Amino acid sequence: MTGHADPLPDALPEGLTPVDDGLWTVEAEPIRAGGILPLPLRMVVIRLPDGGLLLYSPTRFTPALKRAVEARGPIRHLVAPNVAHWMFLPDWQRACADAVVWGAPGLRDRAQVRAAGLRVDHDLGPVAPEAWRDAIEQVLVRSGPFAEVAMFHRASRTLLVADLVLNVPGEGMPPLARGFGGLAGILAPNGKAPIYLRALLKLNGRAVARAADRLVSLQPRRVVMSHGQPFEDRAAERLAASLADLRGTGSGPSAATLAGLAGAALLIGLGLRRWRRRRGRR
Ligand SMILES: [Fe+2]
Repeated sequence: MTGHADPLPDALPEGLTPVDDGLWTVEAEPIRAGGILPLPLRMVVIRLPDGGLLLYSPTRFTPALKRAVEARGPIRHLVAPNVAHWMFLPDWQRACADAVVWGAPGLRDRAQVRAAGLRVDHDLGPVAPEAWRDAIEQVLVRSGPFAEVAMFHRASRTLLVADLVLNVPGEGMPPLARGFGGLAGILAPNGKAPIYLRALLKLNGRAVARAADRLVSLQPRRVVMSHGQPFEDRAAERLAASLADLRGTGSGPSAATLAGLAGAALLIGLGLRRWRRRRGRR
């Protein structure tokens, strides 16, 4: 993380990086999206006014990480902010029996989620629940099977998103992965949601545009995403640029163009994946 790096008095060396008062990030092992694209992965920990902690998009559970988090307060809320960011929650739920699990709308209906034994206690909605209403504003962005809840931590003016904005450094990526990342539109320093997600979101154009407008109107001081380099400088301006396709501002592509590009990106991605597999067998 860059910017605002003054260590807080309660900073501990293991695992958690202080970002602001009552706000930490945890950088996890990268994941491989679609089998080809290495994606960095991050969890955010927020301390609520009552001292309890909210974990936004928990990363892989380890007892050591749990201890490090609990050094900042009791873990009260585990948040799966979208229908794809829940994989590590079952382990956290087993280890934190008193924590409440909140899921993006539709999460509880997914067969994989049920098979994994995850108990979703509450669905997240467009309005923050009483549990964190005083500290966090939330915005629901939804289209078809996809739903994501972005959270705006008022005290630090930090916006948390999972997949609505990606900003993945291309340096050090294998050339093919980097090419695919460029096509998907997710590379730093001006990353966006992957093109296939933008195409899906455009199908619910007006509602999504309203939600994206709301996110921009919050004028965050920083944007922290689950994948990639946070927007630390000119955050609001870069957020507006990142969400331009969804807001229908500027000269962004139409829904049909986005869908066509998304289809092409998916086909290329599948081709790359097959090629990697074949190469791996040789
Ligand atoms: Fe993601």
